[in-house]
Formats: sequence, structure tokens, C-alpha cells
Amino acid sequence: MKGVILAGGTGSRLHPLTRITNKHLLPIYDRPMVTYAIEALVGAGITQVMVVTGGTHAGEFLRLLGNGHEYGIDRLFYAYQEQPGGIAEALGLAQRFVEDDRVVVILGDNIVERSIRPSVERFLKQARGARILLAQTKEVEHLRHLGVPEFDGDRRIVRIVEKPKNPPSRYGVTGFYFYPAEVFDVIGKLKPSGRGELEITDVNNSFIAKGGIEYDVLEGFWGDAGESIDAYYAVNDFVRQHGANKSDG
Ligand code: G1P
Repeated sequence: MKGVILAGGTGSRLHPLTRITNKHLLPIYDRPMVTYAIEALVGAGITQVMVVTGGTHAGEFLRLLGNGHEYGIDRLFYAYQEQPGGIAEALGLAQRFVEDDRVVVILGDNIVERSIRPSVERFLKQARGARILLAQTKEVEHLRHLGVPEFDGDRRIVRIVEKPKNPPSRYGVTGFYFYPAEVFDVIGKLKPSGRGELEITDVNNSFIAKGGIEYDVLEGFWGDAGESIDAYYAVNDFVRQHGANKSDG
């Protein structure tokens, strides 16, 4: 199993902070944001990791993470995204790293209270298809900023709607995705969305269309620290009080 951390983008929702650095290098409590995604992977036993980033601050990731050994990574790779072209495009850059292995993908601004290890173990036992993590999300206004699944009567996901005006459920799709190597064939066939990006939601809908998506509902806190300055501070406050990526208790 490989791990890919997506740490690019312009971080425009956190301007002006992100004019002078990459969003994933901003602090969450006592360390840079990207280190939480690394901890999530290493804590789940994944020690071959690629960080995909871009922009003018890419070199700082090397300065921070080096060869990754200090963080428990065995082999750390980097990819450079020339232009922000969407989450799925960034993931496409990891194809030759993942090869025919399976991959856990983390959006580097997503932070969770509990270890993702149980989901990784379930994915390893899963015969085929992809897996995603959902978070129960009550506020409709929050759901309008996320991917939101629609369920059938058997609680299977029939589709995911990206940033819906009328959210079809009270669950958000988090930035934790588990894919087989065929994800790269799916990405290769994607067309850019209305905002000119290759959307991860289109990747997931393609797996759903083939009957191949499973999900877990996260226990404990989940936050997307890149969503807004208020979300950024909410994640900081939570992590300062309660920690992140915890495997017991
Ligand atoms: C992305 C995904 C969205 C998901 C969210 C989780 O949105 O497109 O489906 O719910 O991450 O953080 P973005 O944060 O890029 O707007």
C-alpha cells in the first residue's frame, strides 16, 4: 500500500496567509499542517509516501520533511504540479509511484481525531473498487462546500454531488480516499469540470457507476483546515485540546 498526500493548490480561501507560503505549511497547533497527514499514514502502517505539491514554496517541503525518516517514513517521494489543475490531476502525477499497488490519498488540509488504520485494514480486505470516508455533517451551509453522497434504501451510495445547493444527505465526503491502481485509468479519461479542474468527485462517481465504492463513517472530529479562516482556527483549537490521529481511547 502506498500513500499520497496532496499538498498543492493556491489556498485562496486562506489569503493573504497563503500569499507567502503554502497552505499545508501553516501551523496546526505546534507543527506544520502537512505533518498530520504524514502521521495519519505512518500510524496506519504506510511508509512509502509521495507528497504532491506545486507553486513557489515547494522547496520548503523538502526542508521540513527531508527524506522522511524522522517521521517514520521509509521512502519519501515528491511530485511537482506545474499548475493547479484539480485534486484528480494532482493524484495523476503519482501514477508511476503507485504503479500496480493500492493507494491511500489524503488531502493535506484534512485532519482527523482518530487513526485511519481501521479503514486501511478494511480496504486491504476489500476485493475490489474504492473506499471513501464520510463525516456526519449537520449544517446545510457546510455541506454546500463539500462533496455529498446520495444513498439508496440499502445505504449504498448512488452518487456524490460536489458542492450541492440542496445536499442529498447529511454526510460530507472527507479528503481520505482509498483506490486500486485502476484509478489512474479513470483519471486519464476525465474531462475538466466547470471550474476547469479534474474533480475527485468525478473519479469517485466513476467507481460508483461500476458498483465499486464502499465507505466508512468517521468517528470523532474531522476538519478541513483549508475551507475558511474560521475552519482553520476550529481545527487548530480542536487539535490543541484533543490531539489528532489517535489510536486509543
Ligand atoms: C474537496 C472535494 C470535496 C470534499 C472536500 C473535503 O473540496 O472536492 O468533495 O468534500 O475536498 O475536504 P475542496 O476542499 O477542494 O473544495
